[in-house]
Amino acid sequence: MKKNGLYFLLLCSIVLLSGFSKNQDPKLIPAKTLNESIEAKIDSLLSIMTLEEKAGQMNQYNGFWEVTGPLPKDGDAALKYEHLRSGRVGSMLTVRGVEQVRKVQEIVVNESRLGIPLIIGFDVIHGYKTLSPIPLAEAASWDMEAIRRSAEVGAAEAAASGINWTFAPMVDISRDARWGRVMEGGGEDPFLGSKIAAARVKGVQGKDLSDPLTVAATAKHFAGYGFAEAGREYNKADIGNSTLYNMVLPPFKAAAEAGVRTMMTGFNTLDEIPVTGNKFILRDILKGKWAFDGFVISDYASIEEMVVHGFAKDEKMATKIAVEAGVDMDMEAYSYVNEIMDLVKEGSLDESLVDDAVRRILRVKFELGLMDDPYKYLDEQREKEVVGNPAHHEAVLDMAKKSIVLLKNENNLLPLNKNGQKIALIGDLADDKNSPLGSWRIASDDNTAVSVLEGMQKYTGNKLTFVQGAPLVVSEESFLTELRFNTTDKSGFPAAVKAAKNADVVVMVLGEHGFQSGEGRSRTNLDLPGVQQELLEEVYSANKNVVLVLNNGRPLTIDWAAKNIPTIVEAWQLGTQTGNAVAQVLYGDYNPSGKLPMTFPRNMGQTPIYYNHQNTGRPQDPDPGANMVWWSHYMDIENTPLYPFGYGLSYTSFKYDNLKLNKVKYAMGEEVQVAVDIHNTGSFDGKEVVQLYIRDLYANTVRPVRELKGFELVDLKKGEKRTVNFTLTQAELGFYNNQGEYVIEPGEFEVFVGGNSVDTLKSSFMLGED
Ligand code: BGC
Repeated sequence: MKKNGLYFLLLCSIVLLSGFSKNQDPKLIPAKTLNESIEAKIDSLLSIMTLEEKAGQMNQYNGFWEVTGPLPKDGDAALKYEHLRSGRVGSMLTVRGVEQVRKVQEIVVNESRLGIPLIIGFDVIHGYKTLSPIPLAEAASWDMEAIRRSAEVGAAEAAASGINWTFAPMVDISRDARWGRVMEGGGEDPFLGSKIAAARVKGVQGKDLSDPLTVAATAKHFAGYGFAEAGREYNKADIGNSTLYNMVLPPFKAAAEAGVRTMMTGFNTLDEIPVTGNKFILRDILKGKWAFDGFVISDYASIEEMVVHGFAKDEKMATKIAVEAGVDMDMEAYSYVNEIMDLVKEGSLDESLVDDAVRRILRVKFELGLMDDPYKYLDEQREKEVVGNPAHHEAVLDMAKKSIVLLKNENNLLPLNKNGQKIALIGDLADDKNSPLGSWRIASDDNTAVSVLEGMQKYTGNKLTFVQGAPLVVSEESFLTELRFNTTDKSGFPAAVKAAKNADVVVMVLGEHGFQSGEGRSRTNLDLPGVQQELLEEVYSANKNVVLVLNNGRPLTIDWAAKNIPTIVEAWQLGTQTGNAVAQVLYGDYNPSGKLPMTFPRNMGQTPIYYNHQNTGRPQDPDPGANMVWWSHYMDIENTPLYPFGYGLSYTSFKYDNLKLNKVKYAMGEEVQVAVDIHNTGSFDGKEVVQLYIRDLYANTVRPVRELKGFELVDLKKGEKRTVNFTLTQAELGFYNNQGEYVIEPGEFEVFVGGNSVDTLKSSFMLGED
């Protein structure tokens, strides 16, 4: 550490103060326990900090300006510089690259009184420079080791670029494909979502946060943001306690138990209270019941937005509400830096809450090693070696292949023959090197994905003809602007039809643009945008051997394609290695094994549609003749989805058999052993995600008709048969009641095992009752 002598001196003279109170629920033990020496150093530091400096630690600024250039003279940037110098900033976001981070860190370390280093945050949502598939796609792999590795790669590149903290993983459960941010999450299910949350946290944070190739993670957006009403971005979330405790909170709890160091609030209200000012979820649940000892950051300007919501009279009131609720750091609202001092001086905000917030922030800075060496993450040589490292490309390719879901493969059109075929590749997205990178990729370079065309060209035994068909968009594509789609230009259709007629097989790459999902990208129509549906139908009328490769950041409504097109591959937006992954799957060098993490609706009117719904009092009668008008249904479409949660095919086939429980009756507290045989009955080696669901048939609150409670990835050679075992423990058999208490109730349970949430074998057992 260069300067900041006063601070250093105080660190050396550690004052051991006890009295840091922990509030641990025995069921919810955080993975971390406090490090006494760090706590003592924080005590020392807090004792010499002015109120202004404390409020400064709680202030984060966005850094959209050239920190290596001349200092700005006026406006916000000049103010930010001034605040950096005077110790009124604790963190910056979006400053990146060793050179730029060093500049900004130097200002704070050399010029502010205490020289407390900044913690540098950044959205590493699915990679930094080398991009992994979008998170929803990764979720389709159900492969926790691949997901962990993918997060590790993104974190390593970010850390090597000077970043200390990522605003990921997003662990919002969502059932609404209209919401553009479903691409950032793990899908609709809390069990799968919790496993993914833990895997991502472990990947990002590694074993030791002080390792310069790891960064602190954030579980966001606490909580309920994924339930935005009508899927409209930033909208209210109106959910009951059961949904909150059983669906929304579990992935956050899993992240906390995996040791996540920060949580971010959201833009939404929950039960009419903005989550950024929501004491119940932040102070009572997160910091109280769960004993979370990391810190909470607001979402971008969400503190001042409480004024717009109509929850606070002004910025000052919003600040008081946010601090009291438990938000420790203010992202770019300027509220804390403007208001905290006055509030405390006037006696309307308790300084001990400020101290607690600062303590939490400093704790993470200590754990990262920043307090011992503010320049620890700043090594130009390391940056060069790590960012874009070839091993990272391998990891994201592996992740990309595992993320692909085969939705339909009639007549075994796939895998493609490698030789002697005429293949027509059609669709603007097939030749796109930008869109497959997906949304949320601030640090990566444009046009750096391997396109599907490039991937396919590596297989040289066939004659490949590419035809665009029609442009997808007519606007300049940018993350910061709305896309405008081509809805009129069909001049390329005849060439596409001609190519299709001359081909043995047509591969069409259609779907959403990469910037069509993500923040602020809600849609009410989930059909293929632009003229793509018409193109698909025209090409299909010329050649029925169509393989449809979908690119998308959310479930789409592809009812027509599902009925007509023989083969459909869900390829999402797969990041840097998109084209290689798609080509390797199409040619059978990788046998697809992905399973949908979100239900695909038949049409938009079914949304929100999800597998773990409850029974109504009037469900469908198994005898169709018995269903009169008065049962829970639509007049114009079936209740069932187009493709259910957990669904996905393989080039081989699997047969499930012999589902067995070790007993029919269990005492309370006893574990349930489940076994099932699975047989690869097809002609390829393959991998299957064996899924286990339960149903608690009657309980104090109505339980879902199915709940995922276990899954296992099984590699089977063709012809191979294996028994897969599951254990249902207390953690899987219970649920949260409406008071948020975890309960396990006696009674009858059903158990289902299979390759998706619908096609399953069934058994049942009694728990704790005669
Ligand atoms: C998003 C957050 C993100 C933050 C910083 C907000 O608009 O909701 O998820 O981390 O911006 O970029």
